[in-house]
Amino acid sequence: MCGIVAYIGREEAFPKLLSGLKRLEYRGYDSSGVALMNGDLQVVKRKGKVSELEQAVSGMNLTARMGIGHTRWATHGAPNDVNAHPHLSDGGRLALVHNGIIENYDILKKALTKEGYTFQSETDTEVLVNLIDAIQREENLPLEEAVRLALTRVVGAYAIVVMDRDDPQKVVAARKASPLVVGLGNDAFFIASDATPIVEHTNKVVYLKDEEIATISLGKGLDIKTIENEQQRPYVQELDLKIEQLEKGGYDHFMLKEIFEQPQTVQDAVRGRMHPIEGWIKLSGIEEYANRIIHAKRIIIVACGTSWHAGLIGEYLIEDLARINVEVEYASEFRYRNPILTEDDVVIAISQSGETADTLAALEIAKQRGALIYGLVNVIGSSIARLTDAGSYIHAGPEIGVASTKAFTGQVTLLTLIAINLAHKRGNISEQRYHQLITELSQIPQKIERVLESNKKVEYIAAEIKDRPNALYLGRGYNFPVALEGALKLKEISYIHAEGYPAAEMKHGPIALIDEEMPVIVIANNPSAYEKIVSNIQEVKARKGYVIAVVPEGDEVISQLADQTIEIPATDEPFSPLLSVIPLQLLSYHIALMRGCNVDQPRNLAKSVTVE
Ligand code: G6P
Repeated sequence: MCGIVAYIGREEAFPKLLSGLKRLEYRGYDSSGVALMNGDLQVVKRKGKVSELEQAVSGMNLTARMGIGHTRWATHGAPNDVNAHPHLSDGGRLALVHNGIIENYDILKKALTKEGYTFQSETDTEVLVNLIDAIQREENLPLEEAVRLALTRVVGAYAIVVMDRDDPQKVVAARKASPLVVGLGNDAFFIASDATPIVEHTNKVVYLKDEEIATISLGKGLDIKTIENEQQRPYVQELDLKIEQLEKGGYDHFMLKEIFEQPQTVQDAVRGRMHPIEGWIKLSGIEEYANRIIHAKRIIIVACGTSWHAGLIGEYLIEDLARINVEVEYASEFRYRNPILTEDDVVIAISQSGETADTLAALEIAKQRGALIYGLVNVIGSSIARLTDAGSYIHAGPEIGVASTKAFTGQVTLLTLIAINLAHKRGNISEQRYHQLITELSQIPQKIERVLESNKKVEYIAAEIKDRPNALYLGRGYNFPVALEGALKLKEISYIHAEGYPAAEMKHGPIALIDEEMPVIVIANNPSAYEKIVSNIQEVKARKGYVIAVVPEGDEVISQLADQTIEIPATDEPFSPLLSVIPLQLLSYHIALMRGCNVDQPRNLAKSVTVE
């Protein structure tokens, strides 16, 4: 949700800002801009993708050794050139980029207007830059001190970087609830919303903590203070990230690459945590809090979007195998409804980015009320990972496509491992069943490889239904959340209206929508409900719906009924979501492509939602 990048060093800043913005574009892409310290502050910003900015600057003299850049996901004010960042203070002394929301911007704006400040844009960001300017002028303070005092008056979330025309050797950065990383190069510093623009320059980074303010000047280096003016010692970490992970590697889109990475994702999620032959599972987070987790009265899973769908599968897994009561909550609802929590509860947050504002806030409430909080997070060092008592990283590597695919399978794999582990520790399953489950889990990567072989067939089916305005996804049991996820994927990237439904609930409403125009995608690989799913397909066919069924290899019954089938290897039911979601991801990918949509950067969405 908005990407920030900044550079201060001895080389040309602009090319570094531009390549950084391209790396961060997944965070927001409705407008972008840069400010360069060039004697004066030179600002260029454009509505649209970073490529528009690139075109706009061609022929300009952009010589500067220091600059800030931003790619935006609009919150306050429409996406246009004026609302794009960076924003200048009235008079043009300061330039600022911002990710987050200043909630009390209206009050601040009124006060600043009384002082004579005028505003060009509709953004909360312009209010913040003028607030800093006002404090700096009034008290003749250095930039970092003015930033610090301004932030004490701000309510909301922010990651900011500011430059001062009258102090041209320095940048100041600060964060609260929005991420910011400082890269330490050779006589150069980088600041960014995540490490992706930094890794090609240096692997030494400092992750800023909430309410820390970093002042960087060449010669003096990096200085960190808290908003309370306490000096902090920077904790330098080495990045575990390779540039190849950030590139498309021969695929046309990140989404396709990430779909095809899923055999590896599953393997990486269990690597070092499970041994099918020796028969052990070790999850250090679970071991550390074994007593509380094994004896938990309740597990509450909080998440948003695709991660919430993974959570729903977690509910089926943990209740079915470990027999612990599970509730799955939208983080945004949970945080505002005064939930009942006790020390006997375990709250699991699932998040790819580890930065989703609602999930983070839900966890804070759970922590305050004494529950054990556990994170299933992909991005290492992210806010959720740092807040939790314990957790397990998904280790899916960077996910760049805005529509989540491999992070989902990584999350479901870990939930599966946790459920099997708890079931074994609690004595809910026999040794034989335990071994059977971990043996099957170890075979899932090869089975996903086989599912991926259906890509051509899925592409053919996509061509058949790409122009239909609606789609219905049906699943039962473990595959009901997969139906929700399949529908979400289609909506997100192809803009076709789609709904996921429990197959048996269809007759309580959605059946009214079915006619020959309605594609109905039925996930039919649950052995326990096979006959019931066959009946549901009959019901759809009786109303002339166009049925696409995901079926176990060699199926003969459904293939007689359905218009199209996609075969996937048979598996033990708890693992079926890990296979059945793959053709649904491919289906949405191909349909979006055929409709000319931007698969990796769908309209209005952002990868990391750091606002409420
Ligand atoms: C956004 C993304 C989704 C993601 C959701 C939750 O909506 O576009 O792909 O599932 O946020 O994000 P998280 O990082 O917490 O998993």
